[in-house]
Amino acid sequence: MSYIEFEPKYRTYTIMDREHEQLISIINRFFDEWVGNKGVNSLPYLLELAEYGQNHFDSEERFMENNHSNNIEEHKAIHKKLMERLVEMIQRIQNGEEITMETFQFLQHWLMNHIAGTDKASYGVLGNKAH
Ligand SMILES: [Fe+2]
Ligand SMILES: [Fe+2]
Repeated sequence: MSYIEFEPKYRTYTIMDREHEQLISIINRFFDEWVGNKGVNSLPYLLELAEYGQNHFDSEERFMENNHSNNIEEHKAIHKKLMERLVEMIQRIQNGEEITMETFQFLQHWLMNHIAGTDKASYGVLGNKAH
């Protein structure tokens, strides 16, 4: 069973869903590996998440601009903050902070609250059209 399920409430019914699915899949792979082997080297997963996350934010900002979505500037500022928080977390882990369930709770909130809140609010109208 996956740590994060891509439930309907998280879907935006736009092409962005595929990228969200990729991000969820990185966290789920990381979780599975951690459950199976607590001594997992977490860094590759976190770096993959940071890299794919940044690519997704860039791609989503272009997508919103092309579609005249709501609150783009505010949304961009939130993306910037999210990346900062992720980088801070990665640095703490690099400095020896242990991976625990709280790590995964953080990642889940980090990604899913943003999708369910800000993403859907910005381009939810588009999503409804495409639905
Ligand atoms: Fe997104
Ligand atoms: Fe976003």
